[in-house]
Amino acid sequence: MSSPMITIERFLLSQQPEYAKGDLTTLFYDIALAAKMIATQTRRAALLDTLGYEGTTNVQGERQRKLDVYADDVMFKMNDHTGRLCAMVSEEREDWIQIPDNYSKGHYVMVYDPLDGSSNIDTNVTIGTIFGIFRTLDDKNRGGLEDCLRSGRELVAAGYIIYGTSTMFVYSAGQGVHGFTLDPEIGEFLLTHENMRFPEKPAYYSFNNGSYRNWDPGVQKYSDWLQSNEGPRLSQRYIGSLVADFHRNLLYGGIYGYPGEVSLPNGKIRLLYEAGPMAFLAEHAGGYGSNGVESLLDIKPANLHQRTPVFIGSRELVTRAEEFIRKEKSK
Ligand code: AHG
Ligand code: MN
Ligand code: MN
Repeated sequence: MSSPMITIERFLLSQQPEYAKGDLTTLFYDIALAAKMIATQTRRAALLDTLGYEGTTNVQGERQRKLDVYADDVMFKMNDHTGRLCAMVSEEREDWIQIPDNYSKGHYVMVYDPLDGSSNIDTNVTIGTIFGIFRTLDDKNRGGLEDCLRSGRELVAAGYIIYGTSTMFVYSAGQGVHGFTLDPEIGEFLLTHENMRFPEKPAYYSFNNGSYRNWDPGVQKYSDWLQSNEGPRLSQRYIGSLVADFHRNLLYGGIYGYPGEVSLPNGKIRLLYEAGPMAFLAEHAGGYGSNGVESLLDIKPANLHQRTPVFIGSRELVTRAEEFIRKEKSK
């Protein structure tokens, strides 16, 4: 082995700017610990009887799978008592989450999608976890709805964990995007992908083409262009887990899209804890995230579970999507 072995903890302590030391570093470490627990449960789900549905629905009316509930619980319990957070928001909970009264409140807010790509859980296909971290608005009066309803521009850090053939932790605290791979034998995340950037030349596009007939004409024309000889003539790869599709496109170049549809005008992806953090990561890797009109980072959510159309990945492909949409709208 030629390169040095750098654990996520050491990297955080040595490579991050001053502001990321202390609370933010230990917060990352706690999220990494939660990720190890979710990864372990995910790998053994069929053996532990944690596949299938819980029998409940979340606020978006989606049936919760057992692993959705498990992952939500782990993320919450790993972070409620540490004194680093003053509020949390989870895809699986209707209201924002208060830090229990018996614990001290910190200066950060964590928003998260505990298990992304739920439809893939029972089929042994890659899933993920997404998180974003804001600083509280007011140090004296910490923890309220207004601390949670923030635009992606205000994120101080974001990341995802991908549970694939290996488990990876990918994050940015504003100084590049860095990836760590879990060595399950020793239980540590080790630096494997320092300073990830979208490659110049894209290779893939990731849209659910089964919805083509329900897209606006601008999106249809853009999707035709992506496949055409006049355009980049990309191959299509769609997993159906935003984390997995984004991760592949970050490594090989490409775009993930979840446009609005006739019966779902804002698409399916949630702004606060899915689109925002992923757009933050995209920008710090030289890419871009848009709702088709403007940067996803510039939209302040009016409610916690607000949905938004998403086009995210290699910068040039995303700006071309905006152009196609603009042109068709102006007709
Ligand atoms: P979640 O499992 O957290 O609800 O998110 C699933 C999202 C996203 O990850 C994925 O790209 C998309 O839903 C897949 O939806 P379709 O099956 O409609 O393509
Ligand atoms: Mn999701
Ligand atoms: Mn989810």
